[in-house]
Amino acid sequence: MVNNLLVEKTNSPKAKPDQKNLGFGKYFTDHMFLMDYTEGKGWYNARIVPYGPFSLDPSAMVFHYGQTVFEGLKAYKTADDRVLLFRPDKNMERLNISNDRLSIPQVDGDFIIESLKELVKIEKDWIPVEEGTSLYIRPFIIATDASLGVHAAHNYLLAVILSPVGAYYPEGLKPVRINVESEFVRAVRGGTGFAKTAGNYASSLKAQEEAHKSGYSQVLWLDGIQHKYIEEVGSMNVFFKINGEVLTPALNGSILNGVTRDSIITLLKDWGIPVVERQISIEELYEAYSNGTLEEAFGTGTAAVISPIGELNWLDHKMILNKGEIGELSQKLYDTITGIQNGEIEDKFGWTVEVESVKLV
Ligand code: COI
Repeated sequence: MVNNLLVEKTNSPKAKPDQKNLGFGKYFTDHMFLMDYTEGKGWYNARIVPYGPFSLDPSAMVFHYGQTVFEGLKAYKTADDRVLLFRPDKNMERLNISNDRLSIPQVDGDFIIESLKELVKIEKDWIPVEEGTSLYIRPFIIATDASLGVHAAHNYLLAVILSPVGAYYPEGLKPVRINVESEFVRAVRGGTGFAKTAGNYASSLKAQEEAHKSGYSQVLWLDGIQHKYIEEVGSMNVFFKINGEVLTPALNGSILNGVTRDSIITLLKDWGIPVVERQISIEELYEAYSNGTLEEAFGTGTAAVISPIGELNWLDHKMILNKGEIGELSQKLYDTITGIQNGEIEDKFGWTVEVESVKLV
């Protein structure tokens, strides 16, 4: 039970969407969590209220200078009707890392987790149970000062909204075609690449659009300085299996520290599969492809969990991976992570957090 949390329930609940056709992030539940911040006062007025539009001054700083951060995590309903969150502490840790980079005040992660548990409890009938579905939780913070001066805001709004979701990519677990981006960059060291902030995503859209025009689902990002080292794929972390060893780019300041990335590294180590975090150049990748040792490639993120890569296009070089099929390891990782998330596989790492059914305030 959370103290100081006001709950106002809606009088007009919405019809629930068809669980077989959810897509990603298209439907929103009946309630949301909000909390305000004012300098000198701190975070206050935590409340669960009916889902609906915000009223903001047109000069609100978030609209002009993008001072905002967000997170993404999921809730699952188990076969025996329990509700589980997956590693919410990692999201709160990262939220505060993003806050620090964006000059947004720190939040009390434990309080946000307890509040979002209350929200999920209220919305538990919205948690879909069809294969491959979950309730996506989107916490975010925006700068609300009505001011056009460029400086850190003094007022913020934190919100948590919930969306029943299916697969992130329409392809689902079908391997996607990826273009290695040779013009645009996503982030540079010293910038905001490691933070979950809107600008990183806004600046990636152009490359994504260009890739779509040429028939690719997404781009593989190379580093912003030498255009040589692999960083991320689309909005996900990326892994390669080369000659029995799994490689992923080391966190270098311009790569997001993914919760799924961390979970995969932990699982691979537990299974005794060698996993190495280091710089990986695109030349090295192509060489591994050419000598037949590039076995699998996949993106990882909360939204898609695992997104297998079936083809990589680098300048004039085409790499077709695993005959365009999902690899054995990619499938095993997907099955294990989603199995732990929905309570079908024993959670020996203590990653899941149960949303207890205590009485609401
Ligand atoms: C994720 O993989 O969870 C992401 O970050 C994608 C999200 C922006 C929808």
